[in-house]
Amino acid sequence: MLKELLSRRVECLNNSEISEFMSLIGQGDIISFAGGIPDRNIFPLKELRELLNSLMAEPGGPDLFQYGSTEGSGRLKEYIISFLKKRNIKASDEEILITTGSQQALDLLSKIFIDPGDRVLVENPGYVGGLGAIRSYQADITGINLAEDGIEIDLLEEELAKGRRFKFIYLVPDFSNPSGIRLSLPKRKALLELAGKYGFYIIEDTPYSELNYYNEPLSALKELDTEGRVIYLGTFSKFFIPGLRIGWICGDREIIRLAGLAKQNTDLTSNSLGQELIAVAGEKGLIEAQIKRVKPHYRSRLEEMGQALEKYFPKSTSWLVPKGGFFYWIRLPEYIESRRLLKKALENRVAFVTGNSFLANPEEGNNYLRLSFSNCPQEDIETGIKILGEIITNWQDF
Ligand SMILES: Cc1ncc(COP(=O)(O)O)c(C=O)c1O
Repeated sequence: MLKELLSRRVECLNNSEISEFMSLIGQGDIISFAGGIPDRNIFPLKELRELLNSLMAEPGGPDLFQYGSTEGSGRLKEYIISFLKKRNIKASDEEILITTGSQQALDLLSKIFIDPGDRVLVENPGYVGGLGAIRSYQADITGINLAEDGIEIDLLEEELAKGRRFKFIYLVPDFSNPSGIRLSLPKRKALLELAGKYGFYIIEDTPYSELNYYNEPLSALKELDTEGRVIYLGTFSKFFIPGLRIGWICGDREIIRLAGLAKQNTDLTSNSLGQELIAVAGEKGLIEAQIKRVKPHYRSRLEEMGQALEKYFPKSTSWLVPKGGFFYWIRLPEYIESRRLLKKALENRVAFVTGNSFLANPEEGNNYLRLSFSNCPQEDIETGIKILGEIITNWQDF
């Protein structure tokens, strides 16, 4: 009965693998390389408590718990405008929409751009939550494979030259999830040119851009954009705190207006307390200070994992060493399927995420896994990688 009444869209909501790995987060006796989440032990709790107390004591205190406007807090938008300005991105108040995390931004943009069957481009592999949002609006997804310096521009051009219309490309140009790959400057320019030539938008998702551990600056696509083709997504989740669920869209006024209309029907407004707390943390310099604090913290985990991989993973596996973000993306030999490896790893109390859900065609991810180092205590990284390395080295068809 229920099945007959449900929308066809429900068939596109198959995120079982995400639910599976979210449920592995926080199970005490497991060494988890699964969730792409920040380390709770580095959250600036003391400073946040002080800011919260002082905000509550202000005359506007009760408004922290009141409904707010759909487009978001003016104070927070002002902070975001100054944050973007330091990164050479110019934006005005009407070009920003505050969202409930950048995940909501992906949903809202999918909602305003996609009719069932519309074509969308994604980097392959790409962020599972982005693919999920796009799929849930019944888009026809084309994956563009990644090289070491980002999407294969030749493949993209080939696809575009076939004459089919694409609405947008979705990508994470800095230290992508799951690949850790960064899009090079020449490819950023080439992509912008193609977007102009073929008339599609670029959704630039930037959660890891600040987590640039070797301080190699690279202009955002939004900075290079002269035609208003780039819709930039930002979030405080990875370099600050995720639990307040605050992100933003920066784009052309009309797109912001339409995404705002979509947001009205979704959740009316983002979390008021969270917006004010982030705004004041930004004004007081806490956010920039936190970025400086977290970079060496995660960098040492990245390096620890890199050394352990070199030591314990056999030659039949391969990976690129990322220079930022939270992830290693590992290729296994053909004869090891990552789902079966996960089963064996969990028996040995180690968790990771299988590659399938990150690919436009999930079967192509059979021999890949994503290892996240961000939330695993430094001292457990070597132990966990050693366990995984031994299972892979001694693999028999379990
Ligand atoms: C690439 C990417 N985009 C967006 C998100 C969602 O982040 P949030 O909704 O917390 O801003 C994530 C979280 O893992 C991510 O990796």
